[in-house]
Amino acid sequence: MAVLTSGGDAPGMNAAIRAVVRAGIAQGWSVFGVRHGFAGLLGGELSPLGPRDVGGIIQQGGTILGSARCDAFKTAVGVEQALGVLRARGIDCLVVIGGSGSQMGANALAKAGFPVVGVASTIDNDLPGSDIAIGVDTALNIALEAIDRLKVTASSHERAFLVEVMGRDCGYLALMAGIAGGAEAIVIPEMETSPEDLAQELYASRERGKKHAIVVVAEGARHNARALAQYFRDNEKRLGFDLRVTQLGHVQRGGSPGAFDRLLATRLGAAAVQRLAAGESGILVGQLKGVVAATPLDDVAGKTKPLDPSLFVLARAMSS
Ligand code: F6P
Repeated sequence: MAVLTSGGDAPGMNAAIRAVVRAGIAQGWSVFGVRHGFAGLLGGELSPLGPRDVGGIIQQGGTILGSARCDAFKTAVGVEQALGVLRARGIDCLVVIGGSGSQMGANALAKAGFPVVGVASTIDNDLPGSDIAIGVDTALNIALEAIDRLKVTASSHERAFLVEVMGRDCGYLALMAGIAGGAEAIVIPEMETSPEDLAQELYASRERGKKHAIVVVAEGARHNARALAQYFRDNEKRLGFDLRVTQLGHVQRGGSPGAFDRLLATRLGAAAVQRLAAGESGILVGQLKGVVAATPLDDVAGKTKPLDPSLFVLARAMSS
């Protein structure tokens, strides 16, 4: 069996690699790690992994295998080349740890008849087939810690802060960080907020007696933090807010995984191996309603999970 990590790294990927390797060895299989995701697979970057090779990594962020985004793999030629490498190296099955784009690569191999199981891992939490993916909880806690700290200085100076969080085109991280961090406003791609709408929200919050404001903005929002800040700067005299901007960026991805992500990754990694051992393929393992569940890759790869709109209503109610 081979295992690879692909796309943006996520805290807990190492715990998933560890689980896949140890569960595979428990099946009596030889396990190989593929370096640098699908790009490394095309280049034949495979090496054996034993139980000791994955010792001491459960608490490490990132991925010991390295990760990459690989355009070549999106072509039929790329998939054929990968199948050639897998056959030449005597690999019988593959575990792909990653998000929606990575599971498209997994699905392409499964459709070509190669046994593949995906493991849901992305901080964006936009992947269908798992209520929560590996890395989300840790990334959320990192964003939250930053928001808590910004709130302290925002209060001292009676200022408004825009905090931009990752999530690609999905507002999950921003929405959840906003609710958990007690934000005055949240701007996400799924719910358009114009700069003027935001200004009105901040006015209303000031009217209610709040001396500071934290606005959590998803990077994928139509008006992202940079655009909003520019609008407020251009209209400073009229709007009267002295906004400060903090863009968290990749800081959110680099943390040491918390208990939740270590446990989720261990359960999902081991489950992926069990599914392969049972002869299953073309599925993603994730957590649905608290239990480990499998969903066809066809239903998840390249697709996006919708946000629960009631959470946005809750956020609005709580910001009063
Ligand atoms: O998909 C994970 C993610 O961190 C997104 O939130 C973000 O938009 C993107 O990856 C950043 O990608 P890169 O690390 O390639 O800049």
